[in-house]
Amino acid sequence: MSTYKEDNRKVTTHRLIEMKARGEKISMLTAYDYSMAKVIDESGMDAILVGDSASNVMAGNITTLPITLDQMIYHGQSVVKAVKRALVVVDLPFGTYQGNSKQALASAIRIMKETGADCVKMEGGSEIKESIQRILCAGIPVMGHLGLTPQSINKFGTYAVRAKEEAEAKKLVEDALMLEEIGCFSMVLEKIPAELASRVSESLSIPTIGIGAGNGCDGQVLVMHDMLGLNKGFSPRFLRRYADLHSIITDAVKNYISDVKSGDFPNEKEQY
Ligand code: KIV
Repeated sequence: MSTYKEDNRKVTTHRLIEMKARGEKISMLTAYDYSMAKVIDESGMDAILVGDSASNVMAGNITTLPITLDQMIYHGQSVVKAVKRALVVVDLPFGTYQGNSKQALASAIRIMKETGADCVKMEGGSEIKESIQRILCAGIPVMGHLGLTPQSINKFGTYAVRAKEEAEAKKLVEDALMLEEIGCFSMVLEKIPAELASRVSESLSIPTIGIGAGNGCDGQVLVMHDMLGLNKGFSPRFLRRYADLHSIITDAVKNYISDVKSGDFPNEKEQY
């Protein structure tokens, strides 16, 4: 049973920080299109992430690297049109902010101007500090993203848990503190040990949103296709499936095919 209590006020970056302060967990889910974003928003989600995971689940790419700024803007526009309440976060895609801070600002401005989203998300720590600062200076709120950062998959070589070793954990803690200090309003912590994620969350006053980072984070995010059971082949330990849409859709589509073939559809009431 859902424990969601209705509150129709628009969710802002400030409200997420207040939620952390009063110990209220933050719910975030990805969406990439109008229809699903509408359902998710009307269900009471706090934040909707137009993730560059669209590259995988919408476009069928193996990694998030190929998705372009124009494609992210298209997904962002579709989602923003549907959403009345949730905070809408749009990912800056690979190659649109790592070059230099001017390029990063131009990319973030295009996302904000052309989609109407509330903020952007960027992967990385000290390496992209200057770019984040420049975007923040323009008045654009930034959500950070540390731990397993899929845009760096070619450097990591694997989607395994990050920051298990002391040196990487130490850098992650330093990066998290730095993101808070320069003015990020929140950060995603992806696939890191739960103990480390709890420690980081406790040391910050901005909220952490975990994916595969345990229950000590201030909120949780999942990829919509994974949690609804559309991705049969993807079963990481952190994923909880809330539906089996693959089976439901397969049954519905098979029934439709069978009704068309047998001449049962359309019947007299389904025609003019
Ligand atoms: O792109 C995405 O969906 C993400 C989440 C996995 C946090 O960045």
